[in-house]
Amino acid sequence: MTELDLVIRQGTVVTAADVMQCDVGIKAGRIVALAANLPQAPQEIDATDRLVLPGGVDAHCHMDQPMSDGVVMADDFYTGTRSAVAGGTTTVIPFACQFKGGSLKAAVEDYHQRATGNAVVDYAFHLIVADPTPTVLDEELPELIRSGYTSFKVYMTYDDLKLSDRQLLDVLAVARQEGAFVMVHAENSDCIAWMVQRLEALGKTAPRYHATARPMVVEREATHRAIALAELVDVPILIVHVSGAEAVEQIQWAQNRGLRIYAETCPQYLFLTEADLDQPNFEGAKCICSPPPRDKANQQVIWDGLCNGVFHVLSSDHAPFRYDDPKGKQICGTHSSFHAVPNGIPGIETRLPLLFSEGVNKGRIDLNTFVSLTSTNPAKLYGLYPRKGTIAIGADADLVIWDPQRQVTIHNAMLHHNVDYTPYEGMTIQGYPEITLSRGEVVYRQGEVLAARGRGAFLPCGLSSFARPKLTP
Ligand code: URP
Ligand code: ZN
Ligand code: ZN
Repeated sequence: MTELDLVIRQGTVVTAADVMQCDVGIKAGRIVALAANLPQAPQEIDATDRLVLPGGVDAHCHMDQPMSDGVVMADDFYTGTRSAVAGGTTTVIPFACQFKGGSLKAAVEDYHQRATGNAVVDYAFHLIVADPTPTVLDEELPELIRSGYTSFKVYMTYDDLKLSDRQLLDVLAVARQEGAFVMVHAENSDCIAWMVQRLEALGKTAPRYHATARPMVVEREATHRAIALAELVDVPILIVHVSGAEAVEQIQWAQNRGLRIYAETCPQYLFLTEADLDQPNFEGAKCICSPPPRDKANQQVIWDGLCNGVFHVLSSDHAPFRYDDPKGKQICGTHSSFHAVPNGIPGIETRLPLLFSEGVNKGRIDLNTFVSLTSTNPAKLYGLYPRKGTIAIGADADLVIWDPQRQVTIHNAMLHHNVDYTPYEGMTIQGYPEITLSRGEVVYRQGEVLAARGRGAFLPCGLSSFARPKLTP
């Protein structure tokens, strides 16, 4: 065997399929050996009593995404990816977002400029298609898909992003033709606008009314409609950030009919409830995200869906807006309506630790499911597998040495994002990353990010392993 650069010794290696005791040998940034008693290497990591996991793949996160209305994301690619590695995530897939009236290709070029020289780990891009003009449908989108931007998100709500049903059909047809994978934000826009208008007219503008304006039925209806549109075009889709029972029922119904409907959820739907929007002063704004967190019963349904296979991926939906900031959650001040507050909460660093602590340690999911949901499935869904998302010969050595015993009380001060709060402040969890490696390089060790700015590389994506062709003719 040629000399190894690095051996991770005596750990418990976990993949989506296996749990095994072996050493991991790394050469030139890739995994080249999995065996007991590998020969000595110049660099060694002792992983006794530790788990060795594939680095997390966060397939839904936002960083340095240009926003309308003067809102600015707190994390750029540097701070966002530093926060990622500190939480055990080694690949991120944020969104190159088209504006209405703008070019999709130009959005991608601009987003590359934001990422290049800043990201500390590897990254791919999803697209957001907000204006499917004939040029976008016939030229830009097919060309981008063929160049490695193989997934895109569409919105059924938000005035500056939403598509009509007719437009959704058009973009789904392009996805079908090119083999691209579509993520859908499913909430009924008109219902929300109608609710917002009535609530505001009654002076009900506090952050907690965000949840009133977006009840489960608006998510359920849009989820059903997205499924129907995908069925009509005969194309797989993934419903993002699913929040509770009624949307889960729609997804299960579709899955039981054999439709290729996939689903994502996020920690906020496992750990937060509507009550978190009802905090003194304006602090409930910190937990404003869409769909909103629901209640304990819905949290249980989301946990059940992680266990029984309804969900394929747990993403952070990291949307970094500072609270005490006129470019963030307080864009219009603390007396403004909930409707002016930018939507989304931070969570790229806490995604894995929260799921491990409450999922694996509490016996809700096993280690393999933890790895599937946080790393392997997102890599497969978005065409990065097996380079990312597993521990196998030839894969990138993106690894986390995980201490399953370590107890941590989450405080915003210990996190590496550029947001001034975490919704999980004060929560004590067990299990935390000790060392994170990206392509064989230690990029994080015990609280300290060691990665050089800009070392992360762009990853062109292949076609999704989940957008498999139908077996019937
Ligand atoms: O509230 C959320 N989820 N904000 C982030 C943007 C999105 O829709 O994913
Ligand atoms: Zn969304
Ligand atoms: Zn999002």
